[in-house]
Amino acid sequence: MNIVTGSASYLLGEKIAQLLNEKYIPPVIEKFPDGEIYVRIEGEIEKEVALIQTTYPNDKLIELFLLQDALREKGVERIITVVPYFGYSRQDKIFKEGEAISARAMAKHIELYSDIFIGIDLHAPSILNWFSIPTVHLHATEPIARFLKERDVDVVISPDKGGVERAKLVAEAMNAEFDYLEKVRLSGEEVVIKPKNLDVREKIVGIVDDIISTGGTIARAAEQLRRQGARKIYAVCTHGLFIGKAEENMKKVNDFASTDTIESKYSKITVAEVIARALQEYA
Ligand code: R5P
Repeated sequence: MNIVTGSASYLLGEKIAQLLNEKYIPPVIEKFPDGEIYVRIEGEIEKEVALIQTTYPNDKLIELFLLQDALREKGVERIITVVPYFGYSRQDKIFKEGEAISARAMAKHIELYSDIFIGIDLHAPSILNWFSIPTVHLHATEPIARFLKERDVDVVISPDKGGVERAKLVAEAMNAEFDYLEKVRLSGEEVVIKPKNLDVREKIVGIVDDIISTGGTIARAAEQLRRQGARKIYAVCTHGLFIGKAEENMKKVNDFASTDTIESKYSKITVAEVIARALQEYA
């Protein structure tokens, strides 16, 4: 097997190739003067390829489609498409009449030239139902748990009920407690957001979410946890978009990190081992 990546996942792809002791082939990716993307894969290539590319922002999605086409053109017979961060995953249903189900549109196009699809901590696992090829859903549980354990976190908190399973898995991997935040109405005007069951007084808390985008969710959660007596607060996510006021919002926590599904200065945790293990199993 060879490992090929698009430009969104260069560092991650290189790490995965090293772990698997497989050849890493970074393609030539350029832009035409009009902004259109050009790709070329040079040299010999094996019949089976793991193509790794995060599909955010939009250009990276086009790169993925072009790379799939180039791989088929070079005679690759089996393409395992690994999408570390699946762009458009949050538009996974119709919120207003007339909208597209964008996540479904992406799934349908990604599978065109793929034999297997591998995703990580998909915002909605139901996205996998739109693929008609075999799919694998991985989780960044282990590396996230390691990061939080190194910081002596006692309690893992999901900022909402929907993410409690993620918090539970991370907490179990590090032998800590877990909970989720819920809104409690104290009076007509007064609402507090607090852990459903646990007391965080004097605790070191790790907030775990799938995505940090503007950081608003984390900032609100951190403010409330601080008010309830948390000693230290860390925030970790799988996919760190860090847009808008994210840097300012993240000042509310003692430290924060994302994985390298989206490569940035904040991706201090790597999912390379998680993906490498899956490739060993499914290649
Ligand atoms: C929401 O459903 C997601 O799990 C995240 O909580 C959300 O995308 C985070 O967005 P932001 O950082 O902008 O609050």
